[in-house]
Amino acid sequence: MIIGVPKEIAQGERRVALVPDSVKQLVGLGPEVVVETGAGSAAGFEDDAYTAAGARIVQDAGEALGADLVLKVQMPRETTGGHEADRLAEGAALICFLKPLDQTEITQRLVDRKVTAFSVELMPRITRAQSMDALSSQSTIAGYKAVLMGANVLPRIFPMLVTAAGTLQPARVLVVGVGVAGLQALGTAKRLGAVTYGYDTRAVVREQVESLGARFVELDLDTGDSEDSGGYAKAQTEEFYQRQRAELGKHVAASDLVITTALVPGQQAPLLIEADAVRNMRPGSVIVDLAAEKGGNCELSRPDENVVDSGVTIIGHTNLPAEVPAHASQMYGKNLVTLLDHLLEEGRLSLDFGDEITAGSLVTHAGKLVNERLGGSMPKPEPVAETTEAEGEEV
Ligand code: NAI
Repeated sequence: MIIGVPKEIAQGERRVALVPDSVKQLVGLGPEVVVETGAGSAAGFEDDAYTAAGARIVQDAGEALGADLVLKVQMPRETTGGHEADRLAEGAALICFLKPLDQTEITQRLVDRKVTAFSVELMPRITRAQSMDALSSQSTIAGYKAVLMGANVLPRIFPMLVTAAGTLQPARVLVVGVGVAGLQALGTAKRLGAVTYGYDTRAVVREQVESLGARFVELDLDTGDSEDSGGYAKAQTEEFYQRQRAELGKHVAASDLVITTALVPGQQAPLLIEADAVRNMRPGSVIVDLAAEKGGNCELSRPDENVVDSGVTIIGHTNLPAEVPAHASQMYGKNLVTLLDHLLEEGRLSLDFGDEITAGSLVTHAGKLVNERLGGSMPKPEPVAETTEAEGEEV
């Protein structure tokens, strides 16, 4: 089996699906790995490092895309040589961030090509799949980078300083939505010396917030049963969001940097900070809205723009992991190798449709949409053949 790693073509994307270390591990599992020339250079990994790790460098994207299994970061896109999805070999496999809850066009192309496509963001958040969870690994990087981006724009420093030139008060950082990205943001801001606050609708988060030396912001709202079975937040009513915005406003106004990460999978981001609340912030304050791509948690955020309103900067960067490409790729590569270690048998893909990881993340297979979250239906698991002890195999 040949595994192909093409160079990412999305604008601003500097990550690569496999770093040399992950190539080495994968080659150890049996497959041959081909990497398009220059695929890792934006992340600091040159061709010779891939060759030393056991990969074959190919000059043509088509050769990497034509492999039996293609590993990418971003979903297939239009290229000068045709759409990447159409350049996959019929019946081949693909693993990447496919955003299947947000788009149907690429998914349909993959159905048409009879591609076996896994979407890493659908990986169930279960203990067994933790080291395969690319959404978490990339959100960790995003939470870290969000703090640094905010700190860079903020006209104040983070730590309290008592100096001969006077005392500087510490920055006050509020993180709204304390999942994976939010926890990393709280930890990073604390390490830089800020006074940190975290808020989330999921009650279980309080302890995690406090363990990072931050204060949990308590709002007078009934969050009830706010977590779904997958560990993600459930959508709330519009009335709830209205009250939440009103309650949250005063905490936002008192903060120097606000990082928002609130999202309900498959939906537009809930609006948590209205324009008026932004205008009540001190000029120079900053909001980093990690949910900008899905409409934003802040009314004023725009995807991939820095908006300045009443002296407050709202950063809507939609691909922060690409700003830390070496470590983001290292983690992503590790996620993929662990997933493949799970999926490969004797160097080939072996699909167990009854397996929670496969059933959760497989989107298309053999010309069909198979993911139940997307309205598809998974093929019935193969019955396990019974063998006897006499044959030396497990019954
Ligand atoms: P997550 O699901 O672990 O965390 C989201 C948190 O928001 C959860 O703890 C949830 O309970 C909370 N939340 C949902 N609705 C809320 C509400 N109304 N009020 C307060 N909290 C609420 O997700 P993760 O992995 O931490 O990602 C966070 C966000 O960052 C997602 O929107 C993700 O798409 C985005 N992201 C953005 C990146 C970028 O470069 N801009 C990169 C990676 C992730």
